[in-house]
Amino acid sequence: MKATRQQTGNSNTTSIADSYIVHSLPAIKKTWRHTYHAMPPIGWMNDPNGFCYALGKYHLFYQFYPYGAAWNSMHWGHYTSQDFVKWQLQPTALAPNGKADRDGCYSGSAIEKDGKLYLMYTSVLAGRQTQSLAVSADGVKFEKLGEVITSSDLPPDCVRSDFRDPKVFLRGGMFYALLGSMSVRDEGQILLYRSPDLMQWEYVNTIRRDMLTTRGIYECPDIFRTDGKDVILASPQGYEAQDWRYENMHSSIYMVGMLDVEKGVFDKEYEDEIDGGFDFYAPQTVRTPDGRIVMIAWMQMWSRTMPTAQHGWAGSMILPRELTLRDGKLFQSPVREIERYRWNPVSYANVLLTEDTRLKQVCGTKVELNVTFDLGTAGKTGVRLFKSAAHEVRVYYDRALDKVIFDRSDMGVEIACDAKERDAYVRSVRVSVKDNRLAMRIFLDVSGCEVFLNGGERTMTGNVYSDGCDISFFAEGGDASILSLDKYDIVV
Ligand code: FRU
Repeated sequence: MKATRQQTGNSNTTSIADSYIVHSLPAIKKTWRHTYHAMPPIGWMNDPNGFCYALGKYHLFYQFYPYGAAWNSMHWGHYTSQDFVKWQLQPTALAPNGKADRDGCYSGSAIEKDGKLYLMYTSVLAGRQTQSLAVSADGVKFEKLGEVITSSDLPPDCVRSDFRDPKVFLRGGMFYALLGSMSVRDEGQILLYRSPDLMQWEYVNTIRRDMLTTRGIYECPDIFRTDGKDVILASPQGYEAQDWRYENMHSSIYMVGMLDVEKGVFDKEYEDEIDGGFDFYAPQTVRTPDGRIVMIAWMQMWSRTMPTAQHGWAGSMILPRELTLRDGKLFQSPVREIERYRWNPVSYANVLLTEDTRLKQVCGTKVELNVTFDLGTAGKTGVRLFKSAAHEVRVYYDRALDKVIFDRSDMGVEIACDAKERDAYVRSVRVSVKDNRLAMRIFLDVSGCEVFLNGGERTMTGNVYSDGCDISFFAEGGDASILSLDKYDIVV
């Protein structure tokens, strides 16, 4: 779809964006649109922003360019939800038209203070990144308050151009912000700032600094506290692959430890990749009123072909996930609210698998599959998804590799990727197989596939652009069986 107007600085407003959306919606083709994942009404979406619970509902803002399905001058789109599954489109929250943000309102976060909702975001102007605030009394219309952290607030050895994605949080009555940054020696960094009132900020310390971000900074830091630990999420640009981990161009990591906000020191105990699939970036978390930590993330990756762009949109979000720590490691499970949308349950038990086992009523592309395999003696045991006569996607355990493989190379659509990535078609993760059993919980949504392995010990997320809707199971090179299978249609 073609943009009907040129983007030029000050002429961007949220109301121009909103009337453009209303007029252009009929041009969007439904092909590959999800049914229960957040995606842009039209145009481009990247990072989730300002994911929070405020004024009685969940808010999901996002990096948004309404006028074309490619990254451009960033707005903040806005959805609200009561359950993380049904998303209500709200008026566009921010447009790049202020004194400091004419080239973009980049990523950031939100916090409620004195009954008002504040957005803290990166304002971009002529290659200069600063941090700005906006405020809303009703959670819908936002008024910009201007820059609150500028490059003069940076420690001397930081580059001035890359300084972004504030994550604001409250501790002991004081506001803090984590920020992505880069040193003059090309080290990726996470900086900590503090403020009594969201307006006056002072630098505390650099809580992480290393050479692992080979192409930039630690983007989009996030933090939550659970089980007496601090968990920091971040998206390091160009993180080097390590064996089967961090195989995407950019990865998202979690670090468990203790953050001393007074001294600005993070004592890290453990670090790992968050998702071992293809399409996962820039996660943010929210604490729900009932105390759960829920994470959302962009279900895409930079430098990839996005086949939906030809239909007028690109980018979507994962199904939000509940996070817990077990033995100091992150476990993920889909938000429990999704279970309210289960329909047409079908169950099987003790099914000996052949090389192509089809089960009656187990098919579809808007489904949840909950399967536990006995891996028997087979070399490969798993499931074919999005299957047609010509195409399929496979998720399976490979005994020789002792890994779970997500293979989308036969989906029927080519995806180009950055030369640094091994490929855009096969990813693998290691899971702990106990008693020769493996559990897979899989959510399909037209062109999205999320796999939770062994109760969320590892996850693999990938977009699948296919023409098929069949499902079959397989065992190759020996025997294996399905111990139990539950399948539901997800209808929203
Ligand atoms: C991460 C990111 C952020 C930036 C935003 C711009 O995907 O590069 O660092 O704020 O996207 O859209």
